[in-house]
Amino acid sequence: MINLIGLKEGEVVCDPFCGTGTTLLEAESMGIHAIGLDFDEKMFKISKENLDANGYNSKIIKGDFSQLTRMIDEFDGIVTDLPYGTASKSSENPEELMKKFVATLPKRKKLAIMCKKGLKKN
Ligand SMILES: C[S@@+](CC[C@H](N)C(=O)[O-])C[C@H]1O[C@@H](n2cnc3c(N)ncnc32)[C@H](O)[C@@H]1O
Repeated sequence: MINLIGLKEGEVVCDPFCGTGTTLLEAESMGIHAIGLDFDEKMFKISKENLDANGYNSKIIKGDFSQLTRMIDEFDGIVTDLPYGTASKSSENPEELMKKFVATLPKRKKLAIMCKKGLKKN
């Protein structure tokens, strides 16, 4: 997904639903800086541990994805995998969350969003 949106070494990716930090780890391994957000304390801690174990120092924030609107100047693109209400926690109904997320997406940024098959087309 990082390659799909063409982020380059030295640029910064944001994952506002970072979970265990997979996007952040992959980004750092490519020389791309990363910022992660996750509202779940447990996920926040796991992400931090995974980054520390690899010697990476991406910024991670325990908080709601909506905080990204205050950080728009800090990143070049978004790569994320939203909660579907199955394996991971969701702060609210996944379709409502998706709608709110899409409404907050910044203009003129590169985006790759993982989306489960079966979510309504809207
Ligand atoms: C599908 S998982 C992400 C999986 C991640 N790519 C990984 O490798 O672990 C979705 C994540 O979104 C988080 N989440 C749910 N609602 C959120 C919200 N309102 N703001 C931020 N994170 C949220 C969940 O805690 C969960 O970790």
